[in-house]
Amino acid sequence: MKIVVIGGTGLIGSKLVNKLSEHGHEAVAAAPNTGVNTLTGEGLAEVLKGASVVVDVSNSPSWEDAAVLKFFETSTRNLLSYEAASGVRHHVALSVVGTDQLSESGYFRAKIAQEKLIKESSKPYTIVHATQFFEFIKGIADISMVGNEVHLPPVLSQPMAADDVARAFGRIAVGPPINGIVEIGGPEQFRLDELVRRRLATLKDRREIVADPKALYSGARVSERTLVPGKDAQLGETTLANWLEHAGGLIPGAKSPAA
Ligand SMILES: NC(=O)c1ccc[n+]([C@@H]2O[C@H](COP(=O)([O-])OP(=O)(O)OC[C@H]3O[C@@H](n4cnc5c(N)ncnc54)[C@H](OP(=O)(O)O)[C@@H]3O)[C@@H](O)[C@H]2O)c1
Repeated sequence: MKIVVIGGTGLIGSKLVNKLSEHGHEAVAAAPNTGVNTLTGEGLAEVLKGASVVVDVSNSPSWEDAAVLKFFETSTRNLLSYEAASGVRHHVALSVVGTDQLSESGYFRAKIAQEKLIKESSKPYTIVHATQFFEFIKGIADISMVGNEVHLPPVLSQPMAADDVARAFGRIAVGPPINGIVEIGGPEQFRLDELVRRRLATLKDRREIVADPKALYSGARVSERTLVPGKDAQLGETTLANWLEHAGGLIPGAKSPAA
């Protein structure tokens, strides 16, 4: 089956292309540096020829409110309209657990807009809601700075490894469209402040982390369970400890994983 992976050179996209290829599919990475640009439409008609499935794991280069909204609205509109003119049978997109409750955030308003366009199109679809990636935990610190401190709401999170995201997403992408949302998550829950503290420790990043019930997540208020999936979520196997030890514990330039 030909599967076009929009954002196929990114963190999830590159893993997904490998996994789909290992399973015998013709997985094509589509991104600006492979000649496909969903903002301008460049290369889309060509790459979609003969494709059965389009998966969208792209992300906006800028997370500024207006820029990210423009990215997800324009690229999703373009994708859906080129798909309508081709034989694509299933549009699969990656979004985030809790998105619908995070509309105070510019980034999540853009994800809500992306999901709305997909739901309102005539194309059969599946939207996959994933929890925060282990690979993004440092990024959570970076977007949560108040002065020199990292301020985080001590709410529950259930993060997962990007490898497990790609594995679950790949399974869903080759299955039938469900015209709804599937949730995926990690095997364990952590308070957000504790999660970030553990990750920064392995990076020898000494920023102070403050558990602040009033702190925002990506600009939005969150409650205890906003970031955790429901009971029907498909769960990955990789634990945080395992990931820190084998994949993510490497400090750039270091020869062995950090403790
Ligand atoms: N971070 C998290 O914890 C988390 C959790 C749940 C869901 N998600 C979702 O996961 C998705 C993927 O995230 P990621 O971290 O894997 O992204 P990423 O590593 O930043 O990769 C983004 C991809 O999008 C491509 N891209 C950018 N502009 C494009 C354009 N105009 N046309 C076509 N492709 C374009 C990039 O290509 P170039 O490299 O050529 O620029 C790259 O391949 C996002 O939609 C995000 O909302 C993230």
